[in-house]
Amino acid sequence: MVLHFIQTSRPVRHGLMVALTCLLVACGGGGGSEGVAAAPEPDAVSVGQRIFTDTNLSSPAGTACVSCHAASQGFAGNNGSTIGVALGSKSDSLGLRNAMTNSYSGLIPPFSFIQAADGKFEAEGGLLWDGRADTLEAQASGPFAHPLEMNTTEKEVVDKIAGSRYADMFKRVFGAQIFADTSAAFAKVTSALAEFQRATLQPFSSKYDAMVRGELSLSVPEARGMALFMDPAKGNCAGCHLMNPGSGKPADSMFTEFTYYATGVPRNTAIPMNADPAFYDLGLCGPARTPPVLPKAVLDTGVTIDNFCGMFRMPTLRNVAERPAFMHNGFFNNLHEVVRFYATRNSDPVRWYGGAGTPNDLPAKYLANIESVKAPFDRLASQGSALTEREIDDIVTFMRTLSDGYKAP
Ligand code: HEC
Ligand code: HEC
Repeated sequence: MVLHFIQTSRPVRHGLMVALTCLLVACGGGGGSEGVAAAPEPDAVSVGQRIFTDTNLSSPAGTACVSCHAASQGFAGNNGSTIGVALGSKSDSLGLRNAMTNSYSGLIPPFSFIQAADGKFEAEGGLLWDGRADTLEAQASGPFAHPLEMNTTEKEVVDKIAGSRYADMFKRVFGAQIFADTSAAFAKVTSALAEFQRATLQPFSSKYDAMVRGELSLSVPEARGMALFMDPAKGNCAGCHLMNPGSGKPADSMFTEFTYYATGVPRNTAIPMNADPAFYDLGLCGPARTPPVLPKAVLDTGVTIDNFCGMFRMPTLRNVAERPAFMHNGFFNNLHEVVRFYATRNSDPVRWYGGAGTPNDLPAKYLANIESVKAPFDRLASQGSALTEREIDDIVTFMRTLSDGYKAP
């Protein structure tokens, strides 16, 4: 499906059209994609677009932000890797995690612990699967330095931009002397990336959004899928992936509560680091982050950080049907399989974990953290699948309405 963002409700900013073209195909090495009519005054958004798509910035060259966050891949994509986790700029640099969508990431609240109605504290917000960055600005420096992503340094990035075809544009926006101070210039790199993502990646232009605005009705299978998605006795997906189709406002349906769960996703044995049977990605407990410090109010409820190990942040399901891999470890490459997992995790665990059917991607001491209260994860094995194959199909059909750039046929 080709995505267009023209129906955005936001004012179309200059630079956006170039940005959109470049999101569809990685625009190379800062190459000249200007020259649409008379060049307007550049701004941080247009500079951010050039950086986001500049494949010259990685070491070796060839990998840009867009390589792992492409519109045609639901703003994810793993740089072409098919094993569920991202391939970096070096031919053998496979990372630990599946690229998250960066669509709508500008709307994620900062990381915190929030008290639920039952008195328990839940982790909420923060960017990345483990919440280790609070803002798009803070996140944007990570991929450059990460040896398994763009494998470069602040200085190299700034020097390459200073020598690029958009160096003058950068100076016009951020000041003639900006390149004289590497860390000041790098701060502009991350703020431009953040502004670009905020300006272009929250268009609310899906079929679902058009339905919420009252512009159209969903098809019969889509509406059936939505009902199953919302039904607490069926998918109960909306019990976590929050939505409000009746509010008239698309932003009331972010399809995530931004909270953290251990859902018991099976181990992805194709991840190189998983070759070590003693290695586990524990999300909030690392290894990609230092575990968060629990505030006193949280400790007072009798929990410790151990209660949060294995938890990952729930992503938005907007644009999910376009993504090539799902969940933090990219175990699934098929959306039907994801829904089958939800429906049968408890009734057919051997199918997902093999052996004795024990969840296989967490050490035994953390298995109790796996969610078993919220439906459909509360089911007894004897109750069987929560959904029939036809119902699974309908839920997938509904999720396809969440892709941006919908155009009436
Ligand atoms: C090699 C692939 C790759 C490249 C290149 C890459 N990313 Fe990512 N991106 C990922 C992965 C993997 C994650 C999840 C990482 C984690 O949770 O540890 C991610 C997560 C994100 C998120 C968090 C989304 C959310 O909802 O929390 C944002 C935003 C993002 N990337 C933006 C960028 C920007 C900006 C660049 C360029 C500077 C970039 N990425 C380059 C793979 C990549
Ligand atoms: C208990 C809360 C909860 C419920 C209920 C729930 N989800 Fe999720 N969902 C999550 C969390 C947390 C993740 C991320 C898990 C991970 O990667 O470890 C997730 C991830 C996903 C993903 C992968 C998204 C991506 O970008 O990789 C899909 C698809 C999904 N859920 C669909 C559904 C559907 C369909 C249902 C209903 C059948 C559902 N979810 C019910 C919490 C929930």
